Amino acid sequence: MSALTQLPAWQALWDHFADAKHHHMRDLFASDPQRAERYALEVGGLFLDYSKNRITDDTLRGLMQLAREAGLPTKLKAMFKGEKINSTENRAVLHVALRNRTNSPILVDGEDVMPKVNSVLARMGKFCHAIRSGEWLGYTHQPITDVVSIGIGGSDLGPLMVCSALKPFGHPRMNMHFVSNVDGAQLKETLKKVHPETTLFIVESKTFTTQETLTNALTAREWFVARARDEKAVAKHFVAVSTNKKAVAEFGIDPANMFEFWDWVGGRYSLWSAIGLPIMLYLGEENFTELLNGAHIMDQHFANASFEQNMPVLLAMIGIWYINYYGGGSHVIAPYDQYLHRLPAFIQQLDMESNGKQTCLDGSPVDFETAPIIWGETGINGQHAFFQLLHQGTHISPIDLICSLQNSSSLPGHHEILLANVFAQAEAFMRGKTAEEVREELAAQGLKGDALEALVPHKVFGGNRPTNTLLMDRLDPRNLGSLIALYEHKIFVQGVIWGINSFDQWGVELGKQLAKTIHAELAGKLDDAPHDSSTKALIRRYRRANAGQ
Ligand code: F6P
Repeated sequence: MSALTQLPAWQALWDHFADAKHHHMRDLFASDPQRAERYALEVGGLFLDYSKNRITDDTLRGLMQLAREAGLPTKLKAMFKGEKINSTENRAVLHVALRNRTNSPILVDGEDVMPKVNSVLARMGKFCHAIRSGEWLGYTHQPITDVVSIGIGGSDLGPLMVCSALKPFGHPRMNMHFVSNVDGAQLKETLKKVHPETTLFIVESKTFTTQETLTNALTAREWFVARARDEKAVAKHFVAVSTNKKAVAEFGIDPANMFEFWDWVGGRYSLWSAIGLPIMLYLGEENFTELLNGAHIMDQHFANASFEQNMPVLLAMIGIWYINYYGGGSHVIAPYDQYLHRLPAFIQQLDMESNGKQTCLDGSPVDFETAPIIWGETGINGQHAFFQLLHQGTHISPIDLICSLQNSSSLPGHHEILLANVFAQAEAFMRGKTAEEVREELAAQGLKGDALEALVPHKVFGGNRPTNTLLMDRLDPRNLGSLIALYEHKIFVQGVIWGINSFDQWGVELGKQLAKTIHAELAGKLDDAPHDSSTKALIRRYRRANAGQ
């Protein structure tokens, strides 16, 4: 048995569950007129309504007790203090230092990291100002109009998601492009849209060894040099963001054009570091600072609020309730905001790469579920696609409904319709529709007898389906910073409860290793590497199809 399942609070929650699983939220609301008020919380510009969950005061008490028994208070302090909590890589985990706006010292191996953080931020600021103001000129003395960010995973999704989310704050002259896929189609289509004289390429890679990124960067460099006809012009059009100075230099980018970050910044937690360069270029230094400020507000709240009034802790522990007790293996991110359309993909990596683990910190296997499958889409589109399953399917998938109170589209009439749908969905998921209500409705439409009864079971909604409603005052850099940090900390808390390492990702390595060998085989440089018969047949088929090319 794992340490977690032996905790008294873990067992006590099972005892509570035996009774609580029979509760219907409809009754919980009916018996407590204050429920919506009591189960809501505001932090900075974020408001969370968590009342539409299958929880009672006893559930929350039990969950908070579990958090304490699992050592959350100590682990939380350890992260903020820069202890090496990423034990399998012997690294600190300090994305909080990147937005430590109070500048209080944070030590790693006895060295305060804040001077380095501030110095890179200052360099980024200077560089972005030069590009945005038009002072930085390309090789034909023209200002930069297009930025192509080349990266993948955490070195792509964060900047891409934030730049899409904050488009209304973007520089009017700057067009942002993101290339992550090694399928040449993405780079090819991007290069069709840009001109070498006015384009800046940012090669983003923590390790600077990632095959997809380096392949795309190399092709982009060749494309550029073939047009500029001058290797020296590269210095005006290529910059790198990495922790690996040597590899950047070997690739052919002057380290003077490199923005640094450090091994204590995890890839999926890196948008606050120099990896955020595309964000700062697009939004400007002031707005990037606002993004950091928003995250810092959430960091302070997370570090200091009581667990009972702590937004990341509440979201995490309510998540644990569904994952480990109800057996709900998926969680939906449904932003009701077109600008947030990449948020589900971003949170998917953040959560699934962090907590998709089956080994406890001491090396023993887990004997409980860990990260749920995170998926989603803009809520309004989801309503017309997969919400059917969420309402009447057999799975329980908690849903985060995310929107902002103020209109960002500025088209009259749209926002009320959007928000009406958010609130209606949350209500429908909670209440459902009883057989009695269906009968009344059908009778009012003139149906009766067998025809009416035959339809009733199909039109019943069980309800009791959990949602969290997250309202932002408006979608701006500060509130987005708080929202992202909220999810980062939620994921951290769940990792602590499960006793796993949320900050490594060994599970991505095997495929990378095998791909290297297979790549050599596809290129005809290697024959007969040991594979199963299926893999061998697939390789043969590819080689036959491409023979003579
Ligand atoms: O393969 C997974 C991964 O290592 C992610 O964790 C990371 O965000 C991504 O690849 C990109 O890595 P890098 O920034 O080193 O290119």
